[in-house]
Amino acid sequence: MAFRRKKISVIGAGQVGATCALMLASRGVGDVALLDINQGAAKGKALDILQTAAVQLFDSQVTGTADYADTADSHVVVITAGSPRRPGLTRDDLLTINARVVASCCREIKKFSPEAVVIVVTNPLDAMCFVAQRELGFQRERVLGMAGILDSARFRTFVALELGVSVRDVQALVMGGHGDSMVPMPRRCFVGGVPLTELLAPERVEVLVERARGGGDEIVKLLETGSAFYAPAASVVQMVEAILRDQRRVLPCAAMLHGEFGVNGLFIGVPCVLGGRGLEKVCEMELDAAERAAFEHSVSRVRALVDDLARLGL
Ligand code: LAC
Repeated sequence: MAFRRKKISVIGAGQVGATCALMLASRGVGDVALLDINQGAAKGKALDILQTAAVQLFDSQVTGTADYADTADSHVVVITAGSPRRPGLTRDDLLTINARVVASCCREIKKFSPEAVVIVVTNPLDAMCFVAQRELGFQRERVLGMAGILDSARFRTFVALELGVSVRDVQALVMGGHGDSMVPMPRRCFVGGVPLTELLAPERVEVLVERARGGGDEIVKLLETGSAFYAPAASVVQMVEAILRDQRRVLPCAAMLHGEFGVNGLFIGVPCVLGGRGLEKVCEMELDAAERAAFEHSVSRVRALVDDLARLGL
């Protein structure tokens, strides 16, 4: 049975979940179970994705379901379920709705896939990772959040557009929480090995940093009816692939910190080595004074959200 494909369950068949399922299947990362409380949406989208195989030529199986039994023994589970940002929803509303959704998903995941690596995508991301970890009770290697790859991808995109160069040659790191306090790090951005800070004036760099910070909002405003999904899904797929193919990629992800960067007991975006066990290692480094101040501010914002969970009894 050594050649059997790996199993990935995607919880939530909305825009992010369905796009993840499509990308995972078409890249042959594994077989995909797409679960949603709306069984018709899960089954319909899964069948539609499966039918692309005849044209796009892949072998992954894709099934839709509303029953967690069909997700049993997943190697990786991706949680996208929850309410997206919408006008009229306060931060507390979103926190309340999504903490309940993520907690109930995790109770089922724990029952049916106790060995899985779980990747959380639901917002507010860092707080939802905290809820997931608490409900799952897994060791920290097997609970991760997707945000840093997306935020870095946005920063890299804006740098590439500004310089008129290939985004492939732009490396960047965005740390901290997934929100407007995130910490893009221009000093650590390199374009084909050349520091960004030697290619652009500080004022232009700051414009790109701000655009990256507001990258999610920019898309929410344009779409009017929801938030981004293609780049978020692609970022999830990079994490799943790194884990299932044991690639040991070095990628920014939300991880539970145990003292690294001076943080204890919170999920924060940091550079991680992702491999077969999930989180293989958190890569620590010295931050300069400006980076440290911005990082600590971001950590305090995540801590405030986690405190809100307790305040709201969640
Ligand atoms: C974003 C949302 C999905 O950054 O968090 O686009």
